[in-house]
Amino acid sequence: CGIVGYIGPKNAYDVVLKGLQRLEYRGYDSAGIALYNNDKLKICKTKGKVSELLSKCESEKITNGHIGIGHTRWATHGEPNDVNSHPHVSNSGDLVIIHNGIIENYESLKQELTNRGYTFESDTDTEVLINLIEDVKNKENVKLGKAVQVALNQVVGAYAISVFDRNKPNEIVVARLGSPLAIGVGEDEYFIASDASPFIEFTNKSIYLEDGEMAVVRLGRKVKVREIKNDKLVKPYVQELQLSLDQIEKAGYDHFMLKEIYEQPEAIKDTYRGRMLPEKGLIRMSGVDDNIEKFLNAKRIIVIACGTSWHAGLVSEYLFEDFARIPVEVEYASEFRYRNPIINEDDVVIAISQSGETADTMAAIKIAKEKGAFVFGVCNVVGSSISRETHAGAYTHAGPEIGVASTKAFTTQITILTLIALKLGKQKGEISNSQFHAYLNELNTIPEKIERTLETNEEVIKVAEAYKNAKNCLYLGRGHNFPVALEGALKLKEISYIHAEGYPAAEMKHGPIALIDEMMPVVVIATKKGHYEKVVSNIQEIKSRKGKIIAVVTEGDTSVKQMADHILEVPDTIEEFTPLLTTIPLQLLSYHIAVMLDKNVDQPRNLAKSVTVE
Ligand code: G6P
Repeated sequence: CGIVGYIGPKNAYDVVLKGLQRLEYRGYDSAGIALYNNDKLKICKTKGKVSELLSKCESEKITNGHIGIGHTRWATHGEPNDVNSHPHVSNSGDLVIIHNGIIENYESLKQELTNRGYTFESDTDTEVLINLIEDVKNKENVKLGKAVQVALNQVVGAYAISVFDRNKPNEIVVARLGSPLAIGVGEDEYFIASDASPFIEFTNKSIYLEDGEMAVVRLGRKVKVREIKNDKLVKPYVQELQLSLDQIEKAGYDHFMLKEIYEQPEAIKDTYRGRMLPEKGLIRMSGVDDNIEKFLNAKRIIVIACGTSWHAGLVSEYLFEDFARIPVEVEYASEFRYRNPIINEDDVVIAISQSGETADTMAAIKIAKEKGAFVFGVCNVVGSSISRETHAGAYTHAGPEIGVASTKAFTTQITILTLIALKLGKQKGEISNSQFHAYLNELNTIPEKIERTLETNEEVIKVAEAYKNAKNCLYLGRGHNFPVALEGALKLKEISYIHAEGYPAAEMKHGPIALIDEMMPVVVIATKKGHYEKVVSNIQEIKSRKGKIIAVVTEGDTSVKQMADHILEVPDTIEEFTPLLTTIPLQLLSYHIAVMLDKNVDQPRNLAKSVTVE
């Protein structure tokens, strides 16, 4: 979910609505805004997207205010309808709240409040929280900030909240535990948001609340931050942001996803710039260098992540094992955290997360830390919760990724992990100097090879046209390209809603082969390296069952060309680096199919970019 808030001389309606549009990637089941203007508190909310909220506000003439808070929601409690949308107002009508996250003990709190005469309109945990705040405020006769603090100390769960009182419309109280929250500091004005993108055009000064902190943001006064539990005042750190507005706009592309696919050559260069020095035969990464003993002594690497980041983790398993000869386990963060995982002090845990906010990954990191492991983060969002929670880390520097289906984050994560694996391999003596040089030089050609791979776009459009009405699709790959098959299938599912499965090509004969008939498109990654001959046999097995074959092959391949219905070519590279190329046509394929089916590419139904609930 996304939060936006504003107090100051501008029209809060404009700032909040525009901000919500920027945050819509965080969830878009419903949206709402609360504005205070001329002694009146006005609320407008609706199921659906921010554009629907905008029409509703315009038609109800709720378009003015100097203080406002807004929300774009990814539903957890209660289905996405008008009543369950945020903001929520307390029973007296004075207090208004926006909340991301989940209040786990909301049922018992609701029961107590009901016993005390409170009534509830919605099914949400948020409405319980705002009434709890009101109850504390009245009972203890305290200011809003104090009431929020006392109430939050009774709450179990995760949240980022933003609250104001219509009787005191010059302050907003915010707090966070688990969900991100930033305060933009302008001249005589303040902004509140889940990340800095809603306010970057107005100010580059931001305070990021830490977990367990709250702040009273009042006009004409410095922001006061304190720890919710201990009531200790904390000196806020005002960060100067580098993000530019262009980076978060579409730059002429129809969709963010397409822009981000095309940004991959540059993004990968940004990832390795300054870190990989082929002419010197060096990889320099401070997060690794400063902790090199931990890495070199690691008996095992455990990778934890979710979604596409988990797929990048699977790719890294092959890289660490090939280059550095370190055993690797790749775990879904959500599974890892609820087991009783065995972690030893000589394990290195690598947590991968584009957003740096995924709740399950965060929780898994905390468990690994408690058990004494060294935890290294690979995040894209600078200053994100995971980047702060880990002992050390490396940013991917891919720039903001807005499309919900992850693309450039994936390839830049693989790039970082490749650098680490190569560096460790070299230092452990598993890779000779000359091999190391050769690897660096080859990695340096990957951005240009991705440029060439992007030229398959026209061919991909033909394939998309031919299979856009398929009901199912199979993706096969072996070795380094098995995770690419998983990722290709995930992309198709996410944005076109076509059922797709990724499988190791050799496993096909143990089940999925039963699904193959003339209606089944099968995408096979069959680059010249690795298990080429074996993949060719798998293609024959599909062919003889009349499946339709779309093969991703190395430029100039002739044997697969004779068997496949369509081929998509990628330049030649060493086997270990092929995922960086073979992924590209699969991203484009899912993109074009989704566009042809008229689906919402950047904001697919039911998904969210940053999943801050567990
Ligand atoms: C969500 C997104 C995916 C992403 C996953 C993990 O499900 O829709 O695209 O891969 O979360 O996110 P993270 O930010 O931790 O990489």
